[in-house]
Amino acid sequence: MDKIHRNQLYTQAKEWVLEAGQRIRSKIDDPRTIETKSNANDLVTEMDQETEQFFAEKIRETYEDHLVFGEEGFGDEIKSLDGTIWIIDPIDGTMNFVHQKRNFAISVGIYQDGIGEIGIIYNVMEDTIYTAKRGEGAYKNNRQLAQLPEESLLKQAIFALNTTWMLPENPYVSHQGIHELVKTLRSTRTYGSAALEFAFVAEGVIDGYLTMTLMPWDIAAGMVILKEVGGTVTTAGGQDVDMLNKTTILACHPMLHDEVLETFVDLKK
Ligand code: IPD
Ligand code: CA
Ligand code: CA
Ligand code: CA
Repeated sequence: MDKIHRNQLYTQAKEWVLEAGQRIRSKIDDPRTIETKSNANDLVTEMDQETEQFFAEKIRETYEDHLVFGEEGFGDEIKSLDGTIWIIDPIDGTMNFVHQKRNFAISVGIYQDGIGEIGIIYNVMEDTIYTAKRGEGAYKNNRQLAQLPEESLLKQAIFALNTTWMLPENPYVSHQGIHELVKTLRSTRTYGSAALEFAFVAEGVIDGYLTMTLMPWDIAAGMVILKEVGGTVTTAGGQDVDMLNKTTILACHPMLHDEVLETFVDLKK
């Protein structure tokens, strides 16, 4: 994708993200219908659906040949990464949206033939926007984010980790490995929005994020943003991330990445 085209697309995408965010903010106290999807804790609201529909309509009206890959089913059926694809999570952190009315984000990644060109993560209630264009650095509210520091040590690191790792049915890693990791780290946090967790690693407010089951829309924007500050993103087993399917994620400073893979993550799958 050439730079001029990418800049135009970026300006448009950002405008729509801010507009969608403004809409969510204006309705934040409205009564809510909450439905469940795969299980009782997998929530969805009309706001998730309306927001994805908003993007799908705008994109189809404006860019006939672009495709939409979204969580709530208003996009296209995506079987390959060919072409220009908007990978959208209309509300990342729906549980926070429902319970806390904050700490959720709109996440939009624009990919061209599988390459992440644009990433936008909007922390809606804080009105904070993280953005990146491939090769042009990452920004928070238009201020460039620093590159990750040269050195980083696990014993001084804070990782975003989800406590579901501790459940006996966790099929991904041995508990031994995760216990060792938690003991070695300075501390852990759980924010409940994968997109914000990626943004926080890019911003340097946490040092890494390790998680079991994410979908392409959870990570598409975050991958573009984090790579721009020198972060490494792979599956929890160190493989390239598959942007079409469910995946584990290890996203952090390159030094921490090696250490986590070598020492702690003993993948069963
Ligand atoms: C979820 C959030 C959460 C992560 C889940 C995701 P959603 O996205 O990112 O932090 O742990 O795996 O599904 O459903 O709120 O868009
Ligand atoms: Ca969801
Ligand atoms: Ca999500
Ligand atoms: Ca979502």
